[in-house]
Amino acid sequence: MQTPIRLGLIGCGGIVQLQHLPTLCELDTVRIVALADPDDDNLAKVGATTGVPPAQCYADYRDMLEQAAIDAVLIATPHHLHAEQVTTAAEAGCTVISEKPMATSLEEASAVLDAVARHDVVYTVVHNAVFTPGTLHAIALLQGDELPEPQVGRAKSIFPMTEAHHRASPARVWRASKAAGGGCIGDTGYHEIYSLETLMCSPVRYVEARVQTRFFDIDVDDVALLLLEHENGAISTISTSWGMVGGGAGELGGLCEVHTRGDCLRVVGRGRALHRFSRETGAWSEIPLDVTDRNVTGHADYLTATFAALAAGEPPPITGARAYHNLSIIEAARRATQARRAIDLTEL
Ligand SMILES: NC(=O)c1ccc[n+]([C@@H]2O[C@H](COP(=O)([O-])OP(=O)(O)OC[C@H]3O[C@@H](n4cnc5c(N)ncnc54)[C@H](O)[C@@H]3O)[C@@H](O)[C@H]2O)c1
Repeated sequence: MQTPIRLGLIGCGGIVQLQHLPTLCELDTVRIVALADPDDDNLAKVGATTGVPPAQCYADYRDMLEQAAIDAVLIATPHHLHAEQVTTAAEAGCTVISEKPMATSLEEASAVLDAVARHDVVYTVVHNAVFTPGTLHAIALLQGDELPEPQVGRAKSIFPMTEAHHRASPARVWRASKAAGGGCIGDTGYHEIYSLETLMCSPVRYVEARVQTRFFDIDVDDVALLLLEHENGAISTISTSWGMVGGGAGELGGLCEVHTRGDCLRVVGRGRALHRFSRETGAWSEIPLDVTDRNVTGHADYLTATFAALAAGEPPPITGARAYHNLSIIEAARRATQARRAIDLTEL
């Protein structure tokens, strides 16, 4: 693809302003040339940061797709909008980078994959947590020959919110709404699922889970507990919640950990730190990492790798199939809750 890739943003909210723009504005491979968002304030803020002229700022993303000269879009909107927006952008012939999750159901996700295949456009979903310094380093160690295969893993992401959190901002309101595709497993737990599966070095095959609303007066899940069995027989657990209390009293709030018959690795705070347990010494030690404000969430490295691949005409590092698989684990967890039994992903 010719560079710089001409990019239109669909959605100019929190994640774009905080994490996408600092990288997108620096990369030589991409230039933001158009914006779409029905919220005037967000449109104006991102317009000011990027220098996109008002004539290229649209309230309706469909007008942007029709009128702006763009090669690609980056979609960062509430979850229930993703499937329709990806499909419409694919029909317009655009490469699509979508924030997670790709859709709110597997039916929608299948329709998305059909649309991108039919229109022969490149499609990728933001799986930033595997591009954080701690997770990248852990992956490199697991791919080398120092560590044997992980046998057991566990991950958790626990955010002790209050009832008021769910009304605190538009971004929190839609996350707590079923109609907008909210809920903790598809929003926050989404990252632990692909991160842990990557570190386990074997795809998930069976999912037992309970996905429930136990803390708040909202119509989406606020806690999800998963027990996973991987293709190679290894097992792992994931706990994610907006109500459980983590951190403090020696308990870590967010972690992703794999145990091998040799050493163990623990990625802390979604990749801010990495610890290794040596069975020989019986002690944990921290592995030094180069963590900066820019690389800490993984968005910078995900976007850099993705635009480099697009510019070179190569497949992006995260494919639509990978994102579909992650969503199928989430769907299996919901079905396991209903059926009170483990779900084999091949049943879906
Ligand atoms: N990968 C990560 O770590 C991470 C972190 C935060 C958010 N996200 C994802 O990014 C997406 C956006 O989250 P956010 O926190 O920025 O939410 P947000 O509410 O701050 O921003 C969403 C934006 O979308 C706009 N919008 C709503 N309807 C629209 C439409 N029809 N067309 C264009 N824009 C529209 C809103 O006006 C708002 O500006 C979600 O998919 C979320 O899961 C990912």
